[in-house]
Amino acid sequence: MTDGEGDHREATDAAAADGVAATQSFYSRWAQLYDALASHTPGIGGLRARAADRLQLSTGDTVVEMGCGTGANFSYLRERVGPEGAVVGVDLTPGMLGPARARINRAGWANVHVVAGDATRPPVTDADAVFASFVSGMLGEPATVVDDWADLVGPGGRVGLLDLARSTSTLGRPVNALFAGLVFAGLPSKRPADALAAPRTLDARVVAAQRALRDRCRDVTYSTHALGFARLAAGTVK
Ligand SMILES: C[S@@+](CC[C@H](N)C(=O)[O-])C[C@H]1O[C@@H](n2cnc3c(N)ncnc32)[C@H](O)[C@@H]1O
Repeated sequence: MTDGEGDHREATDAAAADGVAATQSFYSRWAQLYDALASHTPGIGGLRARAADRLQLSTGDTVVEMGCGTGANFSYLRERVGPEGAVVGVDLTPGMLGPARARINRAGWANVHVVAGDATRPPVTDADAVFASFVSGMLGEPATVVDDWADLVGPGGRVGLLDLARSTSTLGRPVNALFAGLVFAGLPSKRPADALAAPRTLDARVVAAQRALRDRCRDVTYSTHALGFARLAAGTVK
């Protein structure tokens, strides 16, 4: 490695550490509100159920949810793997894992677990399926990460992504400005310049993540929902 490459690597690592700290601080502060929105926003349950269906899970499967947040997907995933299977949620924000653990304890699920960790370096080495919802837009290098998730499940394993991005549909486009404002409000760290850049970055990351899924998988299903703001992609690793 040259000095220049070393400097670049250090700068990139420092930026990533700043990003992690900002994410942890932001989501820990808003965890309760996030949990309410993640569970009770009209239509969200149907979307989560549909995403879980697309993973084509079987009884006894192990499914890892990357960036599981407060565990709003757990019931849908657990229902599909049954008591013989396992659901493992990974998240790097302690404040989100607290409500996730409380949800597991309330329901008495013995086969649902959460692990504190970074989805870009997953603390899990084997699974039948990997799922992530509303996470692709937070990843600096989404294509590389999705590629790693495909390696984690291996050939025959499933990968599913549920993401929000600006709508390209006739009905959704008029609402894009409002959506962009919400994207900015939801940024863990904000600079005024991000107001314009944030929705573009989100779109680009979601497209990159879902393209990587398409590249690595066969039998890919893709659909849009909620006026085109929600994009759901899933497939079986080749
Ligand atoms: C918008 S929330 C989505 C939570 C959940 N998936 C849902 O559908 O409600 C994003 C979550 O991803 C987590 N996150 C972001 N980057 C992560 C990473 N690199 N590794 C693990 N978790 C991450 C955040 O801490 C936060 O809990």
